[in-house]
Amino acid sequence: MEIRLVPMEGRHLDQVTALERICFSDPWTRNMLAEVLSGEHTWGIVAENPAGAVVGYAFFSAVLDEGSLDNIAVDPAYRRQGLGRHLLSTLLKAFSPQLSLVYLEVRASNTPAIALYEHMGFETVGRRRGYYVRPREDAILMTKFLSREAGEQT
Ligand SMILES: CC(C)(COP(=O)(O)OP(=O)(O)OC[C@H]1O[C@@H](n2cnc3c(N)ncnc32)[C@H](O)[C@@H]1OP(=O)(O)O)[C@@H](O)C(=O)NCCC(=O)NCCS
Repeated sequence: MEIRLVPMEGRHLDQVTALERICFSDPWTRNMLAEVLSGEHTWGIVAENPAGAVVGYAFFSAVLDEGSLDNIAVDPAYRRQGLGRHLLSTLLKAFSPQLSLVYLEVRASNTPAIALYEHMGFETVGRRRGYYVRPREDAILMTKFLSREAGEQT
């Protein structure tokens, strides 16, 4: 099935908010998501199926040469088909010319996400105790260094 990745726009906000509620116990609100659209240092991409429905998305922010993957999710019906990898590699490719490293936090129990990040070359570099709420949980801190000379290999 053909999936299209496009920049997140206002027209996607309702669907992304709905998917956020399905995918997370502590979802971002519509207002938080709208701030991604208006922020100077934040970007979002969404994956649309042929019917125009949002089936995945990722948010990213960057300050100077450091990037942060702020959120990524794929509709449960579309998982394990390479879409998470496609979203993440598209972001990394787009930003690699200006970044030295990308970091992210992930719930310590989130085995699928940690597996995706390891698959994409991220390494665990630390743990933030009690970082998450609903439920309270530690965060695993992961980073990936990007080689500007070689270009990002994903
Ligand atoms: C994490 C998430 C985005 C992965 O999306 P996805 O489209 O299923 O991931 P992909 O199909 O691209 O998987 C790429 C690789 O990641 C790893 N992976 C992904 N899901 C996995 C799972 N459930 N178990 C083990 N490994 C997994 C595998 O190595 C996989 O490669 P393979 O299928 O060739 O073995 C998805 O599970 C999701 O939306 N989870 C809920 C939201 C979430 O927790 N987001 C992360 C917030 S930090």
